[in-house]
This record gives sequence, structure tokens and C-alpha cells, in this order.
Amino acid sequence: MMLGLELRKAVTADLPDIHAIEIESFADDAWDFEVFASILTESDVQFMVACLDNVVVGYYVLSFKSSERAKIGAFAVKSSHRRTGIAKLMMENILLTCSNNSRENIMLEVKAANNPAISLYSSFDFVIESHEKDYYGEGMDGYIMWRRMK
Ligand SMILES: CC(C)(COP(=O)(O)OP(=O)(O)OC[C@H]1O[C@@H](n2cnc3c(N)ncnc32)[C@H](O)[C@@H]1OP(=O)(O)O)[C@@H](O)C(=O)NCCC(=O)NCCS
Repeated sequence: MMLGLELRKAVTADLPDIHAIEIESFADDAWDFEVFASILTESDVQFMVACLDNVVVGYYVLSFKSSERAKIGAFAVKSSHRRTGIAKLMMENILLTCSNNSRENIMLEVKAANNPAISLYSSFDFVIESHEKDYYGEGMDGYIMWRRMK
């Protein structure tokens, strides 16, 4: 693991950094600040930040609301710090958490045009199970990807 890189639970003070990464990552489709603030209050959710030398460089939201499966509801890395293994570390933690919580099946939604994310998820054995036309608006298809117990 990269020196100085750690994962910890997100707290209120992290929200401005998290939201800045969300906006640079998703622009008009970014979730509102208030959405992240409300996730902090939810149970059955793991909301984590990746910090490099105590600076937030990534975050994810993993939901355990369904007993059948876990869902990755948010996932992003600060653009200046991509391709350095931060997403890989976050994904390894997701798999470990799911295993500890007896969730063998994990799903997520991703834009069909988001090749970096699809490559990442594929490298962790997520498989495209459905193709949703115009899922993110006209001309923006989505994929539902699953990682199921073997
Ligand atoms: C997708 C994203 C999270 C990847 O984060 P990252 O920290 O750069 O990823 P890592 O450095 O850990 O890379 C892990 C693997 O993912 C894949 N990957 C990551 N970025 C990639 C890219 N630009 N092109 C192709 N594959 C990529 C590779 O398999 C990579 O392994 P490698 O570096 O050994 O080839 C990041 O690009 C991001 O935040 N994008 C914007 C937000 C987003 O799209 N989130 C997902 C929404 S569903």
C-alpha cells in the first residue's frame, strides 16, 4: 500500500472535500452536498474516505440495506490522484467488508461510456448483467454490474 494512504469512516468535516471530488468527477450529474450529509446519518451504510497524508483523495458509499446483496452507491477518486491504486485499495476494502457482513453478491450501476470504472470493476470480477438504454438520460446508457458468489 502507498505510504501515507489510509481508509477511514467519513465524518462531517470531510463533506466539502468529498463534494468537490464528486463535482469534478460527475459535473452536472453530481449528487448534492446534502445527499452526502444525509448518508452520514444512515445506518446499514459504510461511507469511507481514502486519505493521503490526511487529505481526502477518494470516497465510497457501500449500502447493506438489502439482505440479499450490497450496493456500491458512490465511488470516486480525486482526479489529480488517479491511476495510483487508490480505487484498488477502496475496492479491496469493499470486498473485505462484504465478506465480513455475509454479502456475497455486490452490485453497482455505471455509465456505459465510463471505461475507467468498467475496467476497474471488471478487474475485480464484476460482470455486466444488464444494459439499460438511456438510464442516465437520452443517449446515456447504463450497465448494471454484479459480482456474485462463485
Ligand atoms: C474509476 C476511478 C474510480 C478509478 O480510480 P483510480 O484510483 O484511478 O484507479 P486505480 O489506480 O486504483 O486503478 C485500478 C484499476 O482500474 C482500472 N483503471 C483505472 N483507471 C483506468 C483508466 N483510465 N483506463 C483504463 N483502466 C483504468 C485498471 O484496471 C487499473 O489497474 P492498473 O492501474 O493496474 O491498470 C476513477 O477514474 C474515478 O474516480 N473516475 C471518476 C468517478 C467515477 O467514474 N466513478 C465510478 C462511478 S460508477
